[in-house]
Amino acid sequence: MPAPPAPPHGRAAVLCGLAGWLPPRVVTNEELSQRLDTSDNWIRTRTGIGRRHFAEPGQATSDLAVEAGRRALRSAGVTDVDAVVVATTTPDRSCPATAPLVADRLGLVGAAAFDISAVCTGFVYGLASAAGLIAAGVAERVLLIGADTYSTIVDPDDRTNAIIFGDGAGAVVLRAGHAGEPGAVGHFDLGSDGTGEELIMVPAGGSRQRSASHLAAAQDHYFAMRGKEVFRHAVTRMTASARATLTLGDRKVEDIDRIVPHQANLRILRSVAEDLGLPPERLVTNVESVGNTGAASIPLALADAVARHTIHAGEHVLLTAFGGGLTWGSCLLTWPGLAGTDHPYDTGGTQQP
Ligand code: UT7
Repeated sequence: MPAPPAPPHGRAAVLCGLAGWLPPRVVTNEELSQRLDTSDNWIRTRTGIGRRHFAEPGQATSDLAVEAGRRALRSAGVTDVDAVVVATTTPDRSCPATAPLVADRLGLVGAAAFDISAVCTGFVYGLASAAGLIAAGVAERVLLIGADTYSTIVDPDDRTNAIIFGDGAGAVVLRAGHAGEPGAVGHFDLGSDGTGEELIMVPAGGSRQRSASHLAAAQDHYFAMRGKEVFRHAVTRMTASARATLTLGDRKVEDIDRIVPHQANLRILRSVAEDLGLPPERLVTNVESVGNTGAASIPLALADAVARHTIHAGEHVLLTAFGGGLTWGSCLLTWPGLAGTDHPYDTGGTQQP
């Protein structure tokens, strides 16, 4: 397939606000080990995860998204946007989308609002969609939120999946600007392979099951993943997508100062960096403290890096993600100087601005 054309050197989406929000409840490996046949040592060795956050019973994805969205707007110093996009695998309901509800709760009634469903690649797909809205002149400013509450779809007795996932939300604000300025997002590489549908799925709850003559078993409403196969795909797809994006952007691997992959599993992230030939110190990761937070993972990792001063204005950043679908995607940007990100990574405060 021929490479898509390079984005025009004109109007572009520029990242100008960033925030993350985690629900207060921390679930340690030790806590999981008390009720599951697992151990802190197994979880750390196989995944690099030490703890994660879980939403409280009754707390939904929109509740997390609103907190992250509010902080991202504050970080950008704006009170309104033209569109609100929520990337999630765990929407509040299968209908309607979660984004209009989030927009309403942020005082953004009237803004375009829709969800993106691309599992753990959702944030990168969302960035490309927001960039498209801005490039087409449909929006001047977009609030993009990646938010997931995997604790609501993972079987708590499934020791393989229950140890990986955590809940959280991360958000960015994008404004219209120029392709050459720091914070401008692009080039992008996006892709999918639906032949891998069965590797990651929630079998029931959609039209496939509802149109069948039999009722789904309760177990079919839980998240199911073929971990070993997913592991291999995650490494090869993210590596290939990262390379494709570098080619599109006419960059070399050594030009990249920070790679921020979807935080799936530390072993996956290290393999991607190694296969690309990037030294480990250029890898941005916070999987130890949050686990795999789905569509929230890249903005949460970015917010964490900003809070810890491990990402700096002017650095060349490569985002790459992989998820169910199968889907994958990558994006290049030069890190902008963000004002108002003193506390971008909030663990549990619920105060209003
Ligand atoms: O975000 C979407 C993308 N998702 C991912 O990227 C996840 C990708 N997959 C993974 O991260 C890893 O495959 C897992 C963390 C899910 C599993 O790690 P693994 O090294 O692939 O383990 P495995 O499934 O091959 O299992 C190895 C052994 C098995 O025991 P036997 O058959 O060797 O006796 C499992 O039953 O480990 C056992 N096991 C556990 N033991 C202790 C599986 N889960 C656990 C556990 N604690 N939590």
